[in-house]
Amino acid sequence: MALLFISNMDEPEAWRRELAARIDGLDFRLWPETGPVEEIDFALVWKPKPGLLAGFPRLKLIQSLGMGVDHIFEDPELPAGVPVARIVDPDMASQMSAWVLLEVLRHHRMADAYAAQQRDHVWRMRGLPDASQTTVGIMGLGVLGADAARKLAHVGFRVTGWSRSAKSIEGVTCFHGGLGFVEFLAGADILVCLLPLTAETEAIINAETLAVLPEGAFVINCARGGHLVEEDLLAAIERGHVAGAALDVFRSEPLPDDHPFWDHPKIRVYPHVAAITNPRTAADQVADNYRRMVAGQPFLNLVDPARGY
Ligand code: NAP
Ligand code: GLV
Repeated sequence: MALLFISNMDEPEAWRRELAARIDGLDFRLWPETGPVEEIDFALVWKPKPGLLAGFPRLKLIQSLGMGVDHIFEDPELPAGVPVARIVDPDMASQMSAWVLLEVLRHHRMADAYAAQQRDHVWRMRGLPDASQTTVGIMGLGVLGADAARKLAHVGFRVTGWSRSAKSIEGVTCFHGGLGFVEFLAGADILVCLLPLTAETEAIINAETLAVLPEGAFVINCARGGHLVEEDLLAAIERGHVAGAALDVFRSEPLPDDHPFWDHPKIRVYPHVAAITNPRTAADQVADNYRRMVAGQPFLNLVDPARGY
């Protein structure tokens, strides 16, 4: 019985240390040093190469190293019937909400304009920003979206959210499904994407949806690059309908050196850092799932392969 760690983004030694402290006698193996493939029961993964997981015939759980699982479901040879679990960590929700607040406030309080004024030694008050008259619309009201929505409402913004099923969150006007989508978009002065990437949400921020946003809207994408049609965003900024964007995720990561986003004056680029899995806080639930596997008990934080999240 062994755990195989597959990731070139996460720190294997930190994970080995945190898990060994929680699981007696853990056999931790680091890809590509797998040993006999039939000894691997538990795969702890981030972006495993397509086809790789199909090579382990006794796999009992595929555990994502992140909150998202699109990097697992994009494998066309994913072994059928092996459950997939994700990280659900309040520490990551706090990180994400802090990043969303940072970018909402930078835009709302005109931080870039004041930075430019400082460079030019210009002392000039701009308009009065009124959070209570500014709607932040959050696509996705799951673990991350709901946390960000509550915190933005606490700061005084008008907050709306959109999800697949109906929700009730204090201080947040909730829309759901196809019927609620256009009304949600039409009110969103600042649009924040916190959806999982699935067949239904791929390219959901496109020319058509951007056109529904109010004039001068700001776009924040901290979910997945595949949600955004990048050339449609550039065109919407070019014609002035969208004021700018803060982007943490991209269709191609790392962002290619010649990508127009790098030097765009109205786009802020982050290297996929809005919320990073912390082995110290996430190891408990991974160890718990490992013990559940050994005991034949139901796993925590499973995702639904049919929905893709
Ligand atoms: P979650 O708890 O699964 O919530 C997903 C939300 O999206 C739910 O409210 C769900 O609606 C809604 N949704 C899904 N499909 C939809 C559809 N077709 N139409 C409308 N709403 C839909 O996910 P989470 O934990 O909040 O994480 C969201 C995503 O954030 C992850 O999948 C990952 O890609 C991304 N992420 C990014 C970073 C980063 O650093 N940039 C870090 C962590 C995660 P229901 O509630 O009705 O099901
Ligand atoms: C990060 O992007 C995650 O899915 O946890």
